[in-house]
Amino acid sequence: MKTIKVALLGFGTVGSSVYQTLQSRQSKLERLIGRKVEIVGVLIQDETKQRDIADGILVTSSFEELINVCEIDVIIEAINGIEPGAGYLQSVLEKGIHVVTANKELLAHEGKSLRETADKGHAQLKYEAAVAGGVPIIGTLQQLLQVNHISNVEAILNGTSNYILTEIADNKVSFQEALHAAQELGYAEADPGNDVDGWDAFYKLMILSDLLLGNQPDWTQVTRRGIRSITLADIQAVETAGWKIKHIASLQVHEGKARLRVEPMAVSQGHPLYEVAGVDNAVSIDGDLAGNLKLQGPGAGALPTASAIVEDFVQLYKETDNRKAIMDTTFSAEDPSRLQDWL
Ligand code: NDP
Ligand code: HSE
Repeated sequence: MKTIKVALLGFGTVGSSVYQTLQSRQSKLERLIGRKVEIVGVLIQDETKQRDIADGILVTSSFEELINVCEIDVIIEAINGIEPGAGYLQSVLEKGIHVVTANKELLAHEGKSLRETADKGHAQLKYEAAVAGGVPIIGTLQQLLQVNHISNVEAILNGTSNYILTEIADNKVSFQEALHAAQELGYAEADPGNDVDGWDAFYKLMILSDLLLGNQPDWTQVTRRGIRSITLADIQAVETAGWKIKHIASLQVHEGKARLRVEPMAVSQGHPLYEVAGVDNAVSIDGDLAGNLKLQGPGAGALPTASAIVEDFVQLYKETDNRKAIMDTTFSAEDPSRLQDWL
């Protein structure tokens, strides 16, 4: 039985949880994919940190060492920021190594170019965990888009911001206390300014724009506001009217024009995002055939994110096997040498 060799880039909140999930679900994965899964290497930054990683797995701060020493089929990327991750992913996709990533900042900036490289390298690039954590929004939109025209998406896409707003409203804690708790729980970005200034939700909205519209708008034309200036007094003022403040990312298409925004908004009871509390994310989608759908669940944190990554990993192999089966039947009888070009 062939073994799938996996390398992890990053071993923080997300990477370490993916490691544990892959190790603890070995037999289930083997049943699902029909192959063993072996973690062969882990890339980190600080070699002095103590980590719970089995003997025999290469742990290194050198990407070159990882790539040169290990035979790798799939890279799972969960490091921070655009670089060095973007350069690493370009180089492995070129070689035909599949990639699963949770890194929305990198994808919002470099997604198009990475997809092109993946196509050239006959590799797959998957990113369910990059938008809304454990909520399967990318897969759902890909399914819906096969037959629907989607004209409206309204979403809570940053778990940290929703957690902070909920904590301030329900428990009257200060902004700083709520942010500190979100950091302790592993929800916040390494630079939490990304969360509370709206950048993280903005990057996720740009990824949705790529998916829904096939491109991104001019970033300078997109309203982006975070929750940093929201006070308990603001929250209580809207509460007296029965409303709540939510940090909302929206994409609307009207008469061929797209309007994208990321901002705190007061929403009334009955609004699809009114009840979304804590670290939950939610996405309300209007499809012309499917009607209004809402997906909701944990938008950040170790286990939900690892779940989305490992789901992508399984999906990747199911799709690769399906494609191979189709190519086998299409080409093997005619010209077997062409088959290799498609794999
Ligand atoms: P952490 O800060 O907990 O972990 C980051 C990891 O990346 C660490 O292991 C760190 O190494 C490693 N790293 C950072 N810079 C480098 C570098 N230059 N070279 C090699 N390794 C590096 O972050 P998270 O796990 O929370 O997040 C990782 C990614 O996943 C981010 O892109 C984030 O946006 C995304 N994400 C996070 C979610 C969450 O809930 N936390 C949810 C969805 C996506 P070392 O251990 O040595 O410090
Ligand atoms: N910092 C992000 C959030 C992690 O709070 O939503 C999940 O992408």
